[in-house]
Amino acid sequence: MKTLIVYYSLEGNTEFAAKQIAEMTGADLLRLEPVKAYPTGKVGKFIWGGKSAVMSETPELQSYAFDSAAYDRIVFGFPVWASTIAPPLRTFIHSHDLSGKKIAAFACQTANGADKAFGKLRSELGIEALEAELVLLDPKTKPDAGNDRKIRDFCEKLQ
Ligand SMILES: Cc1cc2nc3c(=O)[nH]c(=O)nc-3n(C[C@H](O)[C@H](O)[C@H](O)COP(=O)(O)O)c2cc1C
Repeated sequence: MKTLIVYYSLEGNTEFAAKQIAEMTGADLLRLEPVKAYPTGKVGKFIWGGKSAVMSETPELQSYAFDSAAYDRIVFGFPVWASTIAPPLRTFIHSHDLSGKKIAAFACQTANGADKAFGKLRSELGIEALEAELVLLDPKTKPDAGNDRKIRDFCEKLQ
């Protein structure tokens, strides 16, 4: 079973988890980058990123290589934005036919919203259920010993 982790990360938390999951499972990594980067920093990211998430935008992405036929499973990784998926994932999902693939996902958040975001992800994909789900609280900026176990459990479900 060949797995690709497709993720977006504004400030590194999702990337931090994506790399750990890749290391544990041997999955490949694909980082999505919008052509027009979202701002970082204290305020601007919430205004522009929040608006983009609430408006269900599909930002144009920098070009990337994705050989769909090479993968049986996609693991989506994203920061929760306004209780939904970060918009670059929507662009990717709308750009490819992923039917027949196993789909799992992990979300990084500060407090809550991941459950709603998983629901949004399922509906964007047109599927009833994800193979596995993982929620982490800012895993890079707030290191927590419990995260290793949660990530390991998630990876075991993917074996
Ligand atoms: C635009 C925006 C909206 C956010 N909305 C939420 C939210 O609804 N719930 C939450 O718990 N955290 C929210 N956050 C915090 C991020 O989900 C969280 O810090 C995440 O770990 C960041 O991942 P990253 O470093 O990969 O970008 C939001 C952050 C941004 C920039």
